[in-house]
Amino acid sequence: MTGGAGYIGSHSVLALMEAGYDPIVLDDFSNSSKESISGIKKIYGAGPVVIEGDTGNSSLLMDIFSSYDVNSVLHFSGLKSVEESMADPLRYYSENVGSSLSLLRTMQEANIQTIIFSSSATVYDPESQVPYTENSPTNPINPYGHTKLCVEQILHGLASSNPEWKVGILRYFNPVGAHPSGHIGEDPKQKPNNLMPLVMQTAVGRMEKLLIYGDDYDTPDGTCIRDYIHVLDLARGHLSALTYLERHQGLHIWNLGTGKGTSVQELIDKAREVTGAVINTEITFRRLGDSPEAVADPKKAKSELSWHPEYSIGNMCADHWNWQRQNPDGYQ
Ligand SMILES: NC(=O)c1ccc[n+]([C@@H]2O[C@H](COP(=O)([O-])OP(=O)(O)OC[C@H]3O[C@@H](n4cnc5c(N)ncnc54)[C@H](O)[C@@H]3O)[C@@H](O)[C@H]2O)c1
Repeated sequence: MTGGAGYIGSHSVLALMEAGYDPIVLDDFSNSSKESISGIKKIYGAGPVVIEGDTGNSSLLMDIFSSYDVNSVLHFSGLKSVEESMADPLRYYSENVGSSLSLLRTMQEANIQTIIFSSSATVYDPESQVPYTENSPTNPINPYGHTKLCVEQILHGLASSNPEWKVGILRYFNPVGAHPSGHIGEDPKQKPNNLMPLVMQTAVGRMEKLLIYGDDYDTPDGTCIRDYIHVLDLARGHLSALTYLERHQGLHIWNLGTGKGTSVQELIDKAREVTGAVINTEITFRRLGDSPEAVADPKKAKSELSWHPEYSIGNMCADHWNWQRQNPDGYQ
């Protein structure tokens, strides 16, 4: 599991261990902390094998592939900030596409042909009609989204070149929440870009106020609508995809979202209700590239993977708050 110490990776490592798998985490800890591994141990009683290193290091990968009996790779590692990707696109292409290429080349050499890739709803054309199905037009509007689509296209090429490949592409919508124990959660090293960590950091007093980027969109309350999904539901999605790939070859794409839209204002109202905290807000200008609404159609994952998101927006806020309250400064 590349990037297995990160936010989504750590919750997925736990889900896999709970299901009886023996995951190996490869992480360079550039955007995570070893405390996430300690958190997994606290919850599960044991942790995964952890190897500190770079996904782009093919000799390290080959060492891992020859030392352990690896049959699948879950590829989480990469950079994930839309804003940063616009400021430094080359870093994003090199990290997200370059490292994925090394990984795939080394997997091919080692004859490991099952991979699950962390893609994103940012691959969709923001002008497409919502909800997005897996067949909705793609047209990412920032380098981050391009890197995700680029890796998807590489995976398409690979799967067409050799039918033995088993490829799962998971297009995540907006992952939020944390394990209810509060031992693992989202701990962005820089100022977060996503709404939920910003809401919770304002609630806990780390930030003075929360900026709302536009309240004049063509939505019922004027703020943007997104499809938030609990990270535990997402983690279970990986397990379901892995089980599916044990029985199916070829390339498969699944949206992982709930299919329910929540506006920025609704999320803030729910967070106020759940936390009881004062969350000061200020309306500011729209951000370039924000679409009014991005919601998944998750029917394909539901029918093919028998995967059903279980958590409500209230659960997502409560679990994220529980993590934030217990760890106001993150893992530090
Ligand atoms: N969180 C989201 O909102 C979201 C939404 C859609 C898709 N995704 C994708 O899901 C994946 C996981 O996201 P996350 O939120 O858990 O991010 P994260 O930053 O918490 O996790 C990524 C992990 O990868 C590690 N890493 C980064 N570069 C590495 C490298 N070269 N070698 C080894 N390890 C490296 C980091 O240290 C971190 O532990 C990413 O690919 C991201 O683009 C995330």
